[in-house]
Amino acid sequence: MQLTAWVNGHFLPLEQACVHIEDRGFQFADGVYEVIACFSGRFLDLRPHLERLERSCNAIDITMPRTLDELSELVEQAYQRNPFEHAMVYIQVTRGVAPRSHMVQQGMRPTLVITVRELPMPSADTLEHGVRAITMPDIRWKHCEIKSIALLASVIGKQEVSRRGADEGFWLDDMGHLLEGCATNCFAVIDGKLVTHPLDHQVLGGITRDMALRIARANGIDVEVRPWKLSESGLTECMMSSTTNAVMPVTHMDDDIIGDGKPGPVSISLRQLMLDEFQALKQ
Ligand code: PDD
Repeated sequence: MQLTAWVNGHFLPLEQACVHIEDRGFQFADGVYEVIACFSGRFLDLRPHLERLERSCNAIDITMPRTLDELSELVEQAYQRNPFEHAMVYIQVTRGVAPRSHMVQQGMRPTLVITVRELPMPSADTLEHGVRAITMPDIRWKHCEIKSIALLASVIGKQEVSRRGADEGFWLDDMGHLLEGCATNCFAVIDGKLVTHPLDHQVLGGITRDMALRIARANGIDVEVRPWKLSESGLTECMMSSTTNAVMPVTHMDDDIIGDGKPGPVSISLRQLMLDEFQALKQ
């Protein structure tokens, strides 16, 4: 498929879609982004993603380049031009183009880029065995609630993940609590309850995290939003969530197995309930 991207007011073939070398996204990572999943032409939680984009822009004082309705329309159009069965739409907003200076010019015109790619599906092996994760001391900044394009810490984290033959890395605070992954939120099942770190400056408010908590509560799974550690007695399962993974069981952490090393009942059922909701989008 010839991929088409939106850049600053136009749809163009991907290879012709360019931004200026003095774009502040390129020079300072001065921007924010969203990743949105689309199943058989239906977007999952499009509005909450766009609202989070707006919150991220507001947090760093970037003017939203379009209204939420206009952005919805553009995202739909971008999908129509790249109509994968299952797609992920990437939206990036940067502060715009200016001669390089840390000081921000007033009245800048933000850069808006939208691209669409096929949504990768997990392999049969991953679904059967769950994923392997590692833990790492948190080296990120103190505003992880902003979906910033400054992802160097996560890139370094993922290099370590790959060196150690794992799939995801979870950041630990100074006391050993699991915060979130390089590109996922994380959860444990402790004494039968679904436990996840509270939303604060160390955690992105994942749209899939919200969905997982909502589905859990609606299906009689107790939820506890509190800091947690891998060493807690009663911990039987771990899992992660993101737009690109839905809910995915984590069965190995560092050199240890979680529970019996197989995807556990709560992870399996949450994942299935979530996939049922995706399926229902089509109807
Ligand atoms: N990452 N935490 C971090 C640090 C993330 O980067 C992400 C998403 C999440 C999960 O958020 P959501 O459920 O809204 O996708 C949590 C995206 C998918 C990415 O960077 O590609």
